[in-house]
Amino acid sequence: MSAPLKAANVADVPPGAAKQVTLGGVEVALFNVGGTLCAVDNTCPHRGGPLSDGALNGATVTCPWHAWDFDVKTGACLTNPAAKLKTYPVQVQGNDVLVTV
Ligand code: FES
Repeated sequence: MSAPLKAANVADVPPGAAKQVTLGGVEVALFNVGGTLCAVDNTCPHRGGPLSDGALNGATVTCPWHAWDFDVKTGACLTNPAAKLKTYPVQVQGNDVLVTV
């Protein structure tokens, strides 16, 4: 596993918000679920929709392309149990959000 990389400032991703970042060549979607930051693949496993552009309700993001729902804390797909998002460890150090990809 690689070292944690700075993905954002804490203020960039307030509660209920999302942000797309590219870390080590990996497109990651950061989500703030009630103050807890989560990181998952930004690319929807259905047809590649950008999940950071989806609507976030609680811990559920809805893909903007065909409305599959995902739990951003676990990566589970609520629409198709066979699909799953990769999740990445997140740490907050001071004002920095660090993600290990
Ligand atoms: S690309 Fe995400 S639901 Fe189709």
